Amino acid sequence: MEFNTKFAAPEKHQVACVAAGVFESRKLSGAADALDKAAHGQIRELLRSGDMDGKIGTTRLLYRVRGVAAERVLLVGLGREKEFGDKEYRDCARAALAAVQETGARDASLYFAELQVPGRDAAWKARQVVLAAADISYRFDRMKSKKAEETSLAHVSISAASKRDAADLERGTREGNAIAAGMTLARDLGNLPANVCTPTYLADTSVKLAREWKLAVEVLEQKDMEKLQMGSLLSVTKGSHEPPKFVILRYAGAGRKDRPVVLVGKGITFDTGGISIKPAADLDQMKFDMCGAASVLGTLRAAAELGLKLNIVGLVPTCENMPGGAATKPGDIVTSMSGQTVEILNTDAEGRLILADALSYAERFEPQAVVDIATLTGACIVALGHVCSGLFANKDDLADELQAAGAESRDRVWRLPLWEDYQEQLKSNFADFANIGGRAAGSVTAACFLSRFTRKYDWAHLDIAGTAWKSGKEKGATGRPVPLLTTFLMKRAEA
Ligand code: BES
Ligand code: MN
Ligand code: ZN
Repeated sequence: MEFNTKFAAPEKHQVACVAAGVFESRKLSGAADALDKAAHGQIRELLRSGDMDGKIGTTRLLYRVRGVAAERVLLVGLGREKEFGDKEYRDCARAALAAVQETGARDASLYFAELQVPGRDAAWKARQVVLAAADISYRFDRMKSKKAEETSLAHVSISAASKRDAADLERGTREGNAIAAGMTLARDLGNLPANVCTPTYLADTSVKLAREWKLAVEVLEQKDMEKLQMGSLLSVTKGSHEPPKFVILRYAGAGRKDRPVVLVGKGITFDTGGISIKPAADLDQMKFDMCGAASVLGTLRAAAELGLKLNIVGLVPTCENMPGGAATKPGDIVTSMSGQTVEILNTDAEGRLILADALSYAERFEPQAVVDIATLTGACIVALGHVCSGLFANKDDLADELQAAGAESRDRVWRLPLWEDYQEQLKSNFADFANIGGRAAGSVTAACFLSRFTRKYDWAHLDIAGTAWKSGKEKGATGRPVPLLTTFLMKRAEA
């Protein structure tokens, strides 16, 4: 789907479908009012008849309205004007685009930029429309022998009657496009089955991405990781026949001496649990255990497309977690790259083991901040559900920045504590510490484990176990938290 900005009177815009909003009080938005005037009151008449009451998310499609150049007019219910905020804007844009998509219209023009959303500028509104359109039109049919039929809607205009906000709308559309493309990459990688999306596949995809977007890339092999003494990471791959990889991607948007932001993504391409094997139910969903890695690749793609004036390093430690004769056993003790020893009491707590060494590796970049992204704990889903990701940080400013970026992109996070009091749960009788901390506060103790490898820099951890994919009828990767991370980087680049 393509997007552009268009500045024209809604009644004169020659397009297959023009969409405009109506509030629950039957108050017309500016665009709906202009359409109504051109149509000699036909829209107000419809409202009076009770056929459209402006309830949020409802739509009415009208054909060949007199005086209007577009073939179709789509009225979109905006709900109560006083309650119209971020969520309402996004829901209405989605509802409008979904309704257009059901028609045969090839192009559509949305007059949503004029709707007032407290605290949000025109660029934000454009981004939201583009992201909503990309989301509803996303299909994953690469593994089907018969491809899904293309929907006819191919072109969406982010429209306004005046050119007043032209620059902001154009910028927001461009940003939305870049974020959407990053999300699509992340979703595709997440949705691919684990027999296709192996560590080697993730590394090859990284190399292609680097070539396309002029990033520097390096792929470490098992022997390189052995040289670096990544004993924690390597303990996870031991039961697998797939070779592990460690990808280093570098985007240089600022001066050579500018310290980079480092993103680290968990890339377990399949998590059986290892010897501490998982039960069979829903085990297929453990192909999504590389969604952190996928979000790093998607975010780098977005950052490069936007040409952010910032240096960014992406680290992707990737392997499978399998049982087998050579697999790590509960009770095994390994030495991490940091020199700290870890007693592996549960081989299913493997994400933290690969992240530990990647976080140590991150030190060499003298980062301004490190953010790791991981489908780390089932406990995070128990705590926060599927609405927001868990956020942990060793620095309040960084946590606040990420929280704000999450709110703005509607890819939200909620902070959980990293207090010293929780650290004792990781106590081991045999090694420096254990890789699990018991049933209580499972997401917190996982983050506490990571914190032992991040003492040298500002660090945040995002637990995306509940947000990276959906289960049930709509099973599939969401592309989160690419919007959050890209927004965070955009703000850092401006600062
Ligand atoms: N990848 C899982 C976490 C997960 C589980 C994410 C289900 C989404 C849905 C992770 O590797 C894991 O297995 N974590 C364990 C940790 C436990 C052994 C301390 C968990 O959450 O059960
Ligand atoms: Mn696991
Ligand atoms: Zn896992």
